[in-house]
Formats: sequence, C-alpha cells, structure tokens
Amino acid sequence: MIKANTVSQVREQVKKWKKEGLSVGLVPTMGYLHKGHASLVDEAVRQCDKVVVSDFVNPTQFGPGEDLETYPRDFEHDCALLEAHGCHMVFHPDVSEMYTEEIATYVENISDMPKTLCGKTRPIHFRGVCTVVSKLFNIVTPDKAFFGMKDAQQLAIIRKMVTDLSFGIEIVGCPIVREDDGLAMSSRNTYLSAEERKQALVLSRAVKLGQELIAKGEHDADKITSEMKALITEMPLAKIDYVSAVDGTSLKDTKTLKNGDLVAMAVYIGKTRLIDNFTVNCDKG
Ligand code: PAJ
Repeated sequence: MIKANTVSQVREQVKKWKKEGLSVGLVPTMGYLHKGHASLVDEAVRQCDKVVVSDFVNPTQFGPGEDLETYPRDFEHDCALLEAHGCHMVFHPDVSEMYTEEIATYVENISDMPKTLCGKTRPIHFRGVCTVVSKLFNIVTPDKAFFGMKDAQQLAIIRKMVTDLSFGIEIVGCPIVREDDGLAMSSRNTYLSAEERKQALVLSRAVKLGQELIAKGEHDADKITSEMKALITEMPLAKIDYVSAVDGTSLKDTKTLKNGDLVAMAVYIGKTRLIDNFTVNCDKG
C-alpha cells in the first residue's frame, strides 16, 4: 500500500493508474478506522481496480467547542486495517497540505438540507464536509466514491453536491455496520464509559422500535418519533438532540412515512453525541 502525504503524490499515482485504463475508487475518512470504514473499503475493492482511502481529520467541519483536538487518531492501526482490506493508497495529509492559512472559498449547499437534523446544532459542519470532499474529489478524481448510510444527511448532501456541481463521480451508499449488540460503529464510541456504552444501546433499540411500528402498519411520523423518543428518555444518561422523519432525498420533514424516507436521531450519551438512523421500507419497517 502506498502512503501519500502530498497532493502531488496522489495526482501522479492516479495519473499512472488512469493511463493503464484502471478505475479508481475513493473512500473518504477521518481515520481511527473500524469495521464500518472497512466495509466501505471492501465495497470499493469489489467495484474498482484501485482504491484510495483518505485519512484526514478535517478541521473545517468541526465547530467551536467540538472535539477537533480530542478526535481519536491512530494512523499505524489505520494502515494495518487498510492493508488487510486491500486498499492501494492511503492519503494522509497534514492540515497545511489541505488548507492555506486563510480560506476564501468554501463549497456550501445553500438549501435547508444542511440546516435540518445535525445541522441545527452544527451550523458549519456540512460546509466543511462539502469543501473537503470536493477537494478530495479534485485531488483523486475517482470514478466512484463510497460513503456510509450511518451519516445519512452527509450522504444526501454529497449526492446533491455531485449533481449540482457536475462532478461526474458515482456515489455509492453503503449500509450501517453495527456491533454484535446493535450499536452503530463509530470512532466516537471510544469516548463512552462502560455504563455509557450500555445505555448507548438505546439508539439501536429505538431504530428497531421504529422499524417494528412501521412493519405493523403505522405510517404517522409523529407517532413513530414520539414512541422512539419515549424509549430513549428512559435512559438516565441519554439526552435527545433530535429524532426526526424526513424525505430521504430532500431531507424535508415528512408527516406520513413512505419508502425511502429517513428516520434519524442524534442523542447525547453523557457528553458523547451519537447518531443512528434507518431508511423506511414500508413492507419491512
Ligand atoms: P468518518 O466519520 O471517518 O466516516 C467515514 C465514512 O465511513 C463515512 O462515509 C461514514 O458514513 C462511514 N461510516 C462510519 N461509521 C460507519 C458504520 N458504522 N457503518 C457504515 N459506514 C460507516 O464521515 C466522515 O468521516 C467525514 O465527514 C468525511 C466524509 C471523511 C469528510 O471529512
């Protein structure tokens, strides 16, 4: 596996691959990789000849008071995982390689998409995500890019960005990977104490409850999100940020659930903010 720190290294290598007629897949990550990330790499390896993984904690998507400084990092471990999953190149730049001192240009979705759900408490987050992902698209010029449905709002916003800006890159959404007990895998799970880790299970239990209600024929979004909230509130360490039902593409609020809608939540367990969601399938929940 090639380890690249600079933009020019990546560009040169990708140029060589493209000359040979090989297809290139990109998996953007912030590192501290787990099985959720690995599943994206596996899918990229299945679909593309060469796979580039970016491993970069992107400062522009963290707001003041968020966990930029404490965000977990372990590049050695990341490289071992990536190598084991068949990644061909990891791009691990310094902040100074990606950003100049004063940023004058951002990529920003100006609709309500980045203002709803996580955007209510993280107003600059998706501007930072769109900016860094655009940069990675320009640096790597992949044929396909792979994103997890765990970050469903991010995926919807990136799909819209790719359409609006004619990136010509196929976006592949990959299912949420969970621990055996149901907790959605996340680099932030390492923040949880033993007791918090137990109570964090309430997110995936709320997902299950929502799916069961839909499978029983309930399509009223308010009723479903209210029952999910009631379940979550039973946990003393849980504080709900939001539990919402929205259209899966536009992210606009929905009253009556239909296939493809998104039921998403963010819940603080102690000080750690966790997210989870499911896409509505009225036949199965
Ligand atoms: P990060 O949180 O490291 O996630 C990288 C990718 O892994 C995202 O597409 C995310 O949805 C996916 N992922 C994380 N946990 C997952 C799980 N349990 N199952 C399936 N996929 C999972 O998302 C980011 O980084 C950043 O915002 C980034 C897009 C890299 C831009 O900086």
